[in-house]
Amino acid sequence: MTQVSHQQWGEVSSLGSVDLWILQSSQVRVEVLTLGAIIRSVCSRGKHGQMEDVVLGYDDLEGYVSDKRYLGAVVGRVANRIARGHFVVEGKDYQLDINNGPNALHGGLRGFNKAIWLATAVESGVQLSLTSPDGDQGYPGEVQVSVTYTLQGETLTAEYQARSTKTTPINLTNHSYFNLAGQGAADIYDHEVSISAQSYLPVDDTSIPTGEIRAVEGSPFDLRKPVLIGSRLKVIPGPGFDHNFCLSSPGDPWTRKHAARVCHPASGRVLEVSTSQPGVQFYTANFLDGSITGKGGARYRKHSSFCLETQNWPDAVNQASFPDCLLRPGEEYRHITCFIFTTV
Ligand code: BGC
Repeated sequence: MTQVSHQQWGEVSSLGSVDLWILQSSQVRVEVLTLGAIIRSVCSRGKHGQMEDVVLGYDDLEGYVSDKRYLGAVVGRVANRIARGHFVVEGKDYQLDINNGPNALHGGLRGFNKAIWLATAVESGVQLSLTSPDGDQGYPGEVQVSVTYTLQGETLTAEYQARSTKTTPINLTNHSYFNLAGQGAADIYDHEVSISAQSYLPVDDTSIPTGEIRAVEGSPFDLRKPVLIGSRLKVIPGPGFDHNFCLSSPGDPWTRKHAARVCHPASGRVLEVSTSQPGVQFYTANFLDGSITGKGGARYRKHSSFCLETQNWPDAVNQASFPDCLLRPGEEYRHITCFIFTTV
C-alpha cells in the first residue's frame, strides 16, 4: 500500500503556490514538487536497512526557482539538444531560443521544468498536468501534457502523455541526478553501471549527434557488462559520459525494456531503469562544479552523480534516420519509465 499525501511548500512570485506530494511505500519514500514536476527526494534502503536520500536537490523552493541544471525536473517540450535551435516541420521553419552553446537545450529558456503543474491524486501516486500554449518557447501547437508518478513497493513509475493541436516535436524525460551512496556523497566513482545498448551516438564538439549510430563493441562505451564508473571515466574522451545510448532502433515497436542498472556495492543499493523510450542519455554530471549548494549544505561537484535520462535520440527532429519525434494532431504521445530501487 502506498500512502499519498500533500502539503503546500511555498509560493513563487508571479507563478503561484507550489505543493509537495509525498508517496510512501514500505520500501521507498518519494517527494514530488508541482514546480517542474520535480522529484525532490527518493529515500531508499541500503543492505543494512539504512535509509538515504539518493537524488540531488535543494532544501528550499528558491533553490529550484533559480536552478540551471534541471535537478530532478521533467524537461520538455523537447529534452536534450536541437542543433542551432532550428527545425522544419511540414515545410515551416521554426527557430527556438539558443541556450546551450549554439544549440537549444531542454525545452528553452522557460521549459516545463520552470512551470507549475496542476496536481491530482491517483491510485498510489500523483498526476501532474500542464498546458503548453501554441508558440511556447517557439514550438508549434498547444500541447496538453501529463506526467504520472506512481510508487508500487520499490518501483517508481513515470508515465508521460501528451496531445497537440499542431504537429510538434516532443521528447519528455526526468532529469534526476542520483548518487546511491546518498545525495551528499562526493562522487560516483565506486558505482558500477551497465546499460543494455549495442550502440550509442557519437557527438560533435557542441554535443549534437553526428548522425552515426556506432556499435559500442570494443570501445569504452560498451557498458553491456557492469563496469566501475570511476575506471571507465578515466578512459572515455572528454569530461565524462554525456551520450545517448540506443535502446532500440528506429521503427521498432513500443515496448518497455531494460535500460540500465547501477549498483553501489558499499551500501548495497541498486537502481534499475526500464523504459519504452528508444534511448537513454547517460550523463555523469560533468558540468557540476561545486558552485551549487544542495540539500543539507552539500556541494555538488563534477561526477558527484549520474543521470539516466530516458528519451528519444537527441536532435531527432533534424535527423531523418533517428526515431520519429513528431506528435501529430489526433495522436497520443505515451512513454513509461520505471526506476526500481533494490539492494544486493
Ligand atoms: C545534458 C548535459 C547538460 C545537462 C544539464 C544533460 O541532459 O546532456 O550536457 O549539461 O543535461 O543541463
